[in-house]
Amino acid sequence: MEKIILDVDTGIDDALAIAYAVHSPALEVCGITTTFGNITMEEATRNTLQVLELLDASMIPVYQGASKPIVRDLTGKARLFHGENGLGNVVLPEPSTTAQPQCATQYLISAIKEHPHELTIVTVGSMTNLARAIMAAPEIVSLVKRVVVMGGAVTVPGNRTPVAEANICADPEAAAYVFQSGIPVTLVGLDVTMQTLLTREYLQEWRATDTRLSHVFADMCEVYMNAYATVGNLRGCGLHDPLAVGVVIDPTFVKSVPMHVAVDTSGGASDARTIGDRREHPAQPPNVDVCLEVDHERFVSHFLQNVLGE
Ligand code: BDR
Ligand code: CA
Repeated sequence: MEKIILDVDTGIDDALAIAYAVHSPALEVCGITTTFGNITMEEATRNTLQVLELLDASMIPVYQGASKPIVRDLTGKARLFHGENGLGNVVLPEPSTTAQPQCATQYLISAIKEHPHELTIVTVGSMTNLARAIMAAPEIVSLVKRVVVMGGAVTVPGNRTPVAEANICADPEAAAYVFQSGIPVTLVGLDVTMQTLLTREYLQEWRATDTRLSHVFADMCEVYMNAYATVGNLRGCGLHDPLAVGVVIDPTFVKSVPMHVAVDTSGGASDARTIGDRREHPAQPPNVDVCLEVDHERFVSHFLQNVLGE
């Protein structure tokens, strides 16, 4: 089993990613760290605890992380997409568990040291927690197995700005810091996640299974899909965060190309853009494996087989 830590800003696709990871026999979710992005870190923590309870997986420890970017002020959330509470306004019972006393940064450092070369960190929100962990303990760079990042848009338009993706926008300096740190990164960006759409017919199949989980997820995804319909002619919603989990379960879902990726932190029109050097003779060596192709049918079908559990 692959040991992973999920770093989440639990909105709707984060919730799906948590369920997919928890239900996948190929993965052991050692812990979940929370950050801001879709919503505040405190809301992400509450949502994560609620989702784990819904999944009957409250034994997985949750660690609270950063509540603001490393350099900038906290800015725009994604409530249009994820609803006022981050979970499509689906109301779940208040969690009966709480987050661990240890903070996300310290947990990441201690877990990576405890399992050298074994842990994959999957970040699906702002990259602040991981950047902070590397700043505090640079030795973890050579101890982590891999970092899989849902974020960026190297060859396609952005979703938060014309050129930038939401998770990178949430804390561009953190993303820039992680990419240049030497830690092995696989980037699962909009280049591939906008090809893995969950469409409405699957929601009917979920509802037909008639479990609490299937109705909750179908309700959330309807809100997500309605939001997607307002921004483009899309038949469903992007399975962004689940694809990052999928890449750990089966790396052959995607094809990636090593390239040098920089993050624009200028604050200008292309702020937070992930700039991949695709020239034949790039100026700097590759620092990121950028996913550029995805076997979307195989991935979506695997996701659907696993996300609801047995
Ligand atoms: C990413 O941004 C968030 O809104 C989603 O949860 C996902 O992590 C997609 O750009
Ligand atoms: Ca997310």
